[in-house]
Amino acid sequence: MSSNSLLLITGGLFLIILIVGNCGAKRKWDYEPLSIDTYSSDESKLKFVAKVERVARGEFAIGGTIDFKYTPDSNTMVEAVAHRSSSGAERDYKLIPFNIPKQPFPDFMNSHYKDVIIPNVAECSNLIKFEGKFDGVWPQKVYTLDKCVADSDGFPEMVTEGFYRINFTLTNPVDWGFVLIVKISNKMM
Ligand SMILES: *[C@@H]1O[C@H](CO)[C@@H](O)[C@H](O)[C@H]1NC(C)=O
Repeated sequence: MSSNSLLLITGGLFLIILIVGNCGAKRKWDYEPLSIDTYSSDESKLKFVAKVERVARGEFAIGGTIDFKYTPDSNTMVEAVAHRSSSGAERDYKLIPFNIPKQPFPDFMNSHYKDVIIPNVAECSNLIKFEGKFDGVWPQKVYTLDKCVADSDGFPEMVTEGFYRINFTLTNPVDWGFVLIVKISNKMM
């Protein structure tokens, strides 16, 4: 993948999204989410449940609920890191340059959330939508994601085969997030 690519596989904000330079090309690879594990250091503040569902041959959807009982603010930090393993073995995972640099929640809302998450989950979730600048208020409620499917438009033509592990985390005042493992393989032509 080109260095300007960002592989952002969010489960919580939950789907497979790739922001890439070479949009519109025909995808030559398949992906299979193998697992999604959610975590929360305090379920009285944030409870997160997610699952991967196979909806058709080679097609997967992600569903889940995120119960927000706290209000993230500028002290809340958002970060995502990705590792890749060619074999799937734990010892082979190496850090790759697809990430969301650690940043305050409002910055995340005005960048990745607005540009990538809103367009992709608008139809399958009740996650908040906004235009212009984020007003700073993330309402406390139960957010649901129902059969969110990765859209193949905007994916890069080629992706290195292997196992990708993405860890998406929010910290302060509760540490929560998910670890998603996705297998990428070349398409049988
Ligand atoms: C995910 O990130 C969190 C926060 O940095 C860390 O505590 C956790 O160990 C990570 N999990 C994996 C599987 O990398």
